[in-house]
Amino acid sequence: MAKKILVAVAWPYANGALHVGHLAGAYLPADIFARYHRLKGNAVLMVSGSDAHGTPITVHAEKEGVTPRDIFERYHQHFLETQQEIGITYDLFTHTDTRNHAQVAQDIFTRLLELGYLYSERQQQFYSESLDRFLPDRYVEGTCPHCGYADARGDQCDNCGHLLDALELGAPRCSLDGLKPVIRETEHFFLDLPQLEPAVLAYLQDDKKGHWRSNVLKFSQNYVSGGLQGRPITRDIKWGIPVPLDRPGYADKRLYVWFEAVIGYISASIEWAKLEGAEMAWKDWWYDPEALTYYFIGKDNIPFHTIIWPAELLGIKRLYEEERTLNLPYNVPANEFMNIQGEQASKSRHWAIWIPDLLSRYDPDAIRYYLAAVMPETNDTNFSWEDFVQRNNSELVGTWGNLVNRVLSMTVRYFGEVPARGELAAVDAELLQKAQAAFELVGKELAAPRFRAALGVALELARETNRYLEMKAPWQQIKAERVAAGTTLNVALQAINALKVLLAPFLPFSAQRLHELLGYDSMLFGEQLVKEVSSGEDAHRVLTYEDAEANGVWEFTALPAGRPLEKPHPLFKKLDESVIREELARFGG
Ligand code: MF3
Ligand code: ZN
Repeated sequence: MAKKILVAVAWPYANGALHVGHLAGAYLPADIFARYHRLKGNAVLMVSGSDAHGTPITVHAEKEGVTPRDIFERYHQHFLETQQEIGITYDLFTHTDTRNHAQVAQDIFTRLLELGYLYSERQQQFYSESLDRFLPDRYVEGTCPHCGYADARGDQCDNCGHLLDALELGAPRCSLDGLKPVIRETEHFFLDLPQLEPAVLAYLQDDKKGHWRSNVLKFSQNYVSGGLQGRPITRDIKWGIPVPLDRPGYADKRLYVWFEAVIGYISASIEWAKLEGAEMAWKDWWYDPEALTYYFIGKDNIPFHTIIWPAELLGIKRLYEEERTLNLPYNVPANEFMNIQGEQASKSRHWAIWIPDLLSRYDPDAIRYYLAAVMPETNDTNFSWEDFVQRNNSELVGTWGNLVNRVLSMTVRYFGEVPARGELAAVDAELLQKAQAAFELVGKELAAPRFRAALGVALELARETNRYLEMKAPWQQIKAERVAAGTTLNVALQAINALKVLLAPFLPFSAQRLHELLGYDSMLFGEQLVKEVSSGEDAHRVLTYEDAEANGVWEFTALPAGRPLEKPHPLFKKLDESVIREELARFGG
């Protein structure tokens, strides 16, 4: 039975270009995961969008002397184009400045208020006398009370990850003019986290979270056991979603970006359903207790997705005349950070690798391959140009690309078509078996999700196939035993056809090209993805996970003998060592 899988992806602030940290941290794992589940025949809904509001955008706009909308529109466009180019396949990538999103966010505010989970309180807030305005937390910097980091931002410490209230900072200074701000009173609404704390704690219990990454779970549990305080959900700012209340003073306040951005997961699902012309369809992922919801985020976003968002959902319970309660995050496989050449990435120090730059020089699959191979799943990892070139040449080109090229070239040269298979020797049967078994092994790792492990298993099958070729030496066999050579190439082609599917979530572009080289005329990722393709005859069936997991798969889904094949062109490009020097020179240079 098809499972419903929600792939919820962190919403990038629309205030800067995409860099490898974004991709390796959240979008690429989300996309690999979504593609895997689509290949499995599951019902995937993958949503995200630009985080258009909040001080990250206004700070940037102020610096450039343009409006926040100018900034958000520029980068939203950039996100759409760049992610399309690198093959991140959202069902909907929207933004938080839509009417739909504002409506849903306001409805949720109203619902939480009615149910008694919000309260208003006069609060002290930093105020800049020189600028004559309240300073949202992000406009204040100072020393982190938890770890002593001197440049903590008022909303969150980038060093230890704690969420902060700017008033807690030591030696506060305004990030706009560097001056010391004063404290003034202002009224705000708060999410009553102490009231929701027992429910959040119950949600985070160990025995229900065995499938979570242990660093994510530990961090979250510690966070709650320290005791939760009410969190403001409105702000003195003019860019954002109005507070749906007719109260004096509230015309100049907006919903706090953190309260409303996470609501984007629901509002985007609703928007997607409307666009599909099936208005209720979003409920399949949000209310069906069997649906599984995954949140792909970076580690700096953990508390918002494992505590605040679940707290909001637990408070809302039901939305829009629905009897069932909203689904809580099933898993939050947060990634750690990706350093660059051994140092922490930093926008301000221009120590970053930008995706458009990469795309201008390398193929999307080469980029995807490397970022998946060094993905920071359980600890910080490192992007290095030496390693990029080395892995591209030895693994992507050497182990996988050359295998495809050799087998296809020999097949075309000797037979011009997929050769028939004679009797199978033990080694032949063994490789076929390994190829079949790989579906279960890779599938298990991808579902976990453990992307590097999944990639490792697939690559091992490619190595195995290379060893098989060396041993059978079809270039020798062809001289004396034409039928035996045919058997070898047939078996190797079946393994390659399997690897095509196994690697497709990682390498969708080259997998599609290989699909065509193998004589298929369908889209690997498209409407006709699974089951019958065009004529509906077995001969045209695309190998799927389901087929591979069933018995006797090789009898009917295998690449059919007699199918004409054309001369292949290489799937990947070898990179010259000089690339390393050139790329290093681009840094700070
Ligand atoms: N835009 C924020 C960030 O990049 C939050 C992203 S996740 C969200 O850190 F769902 F909360 F929006
Ligand atoms: Zn800190």
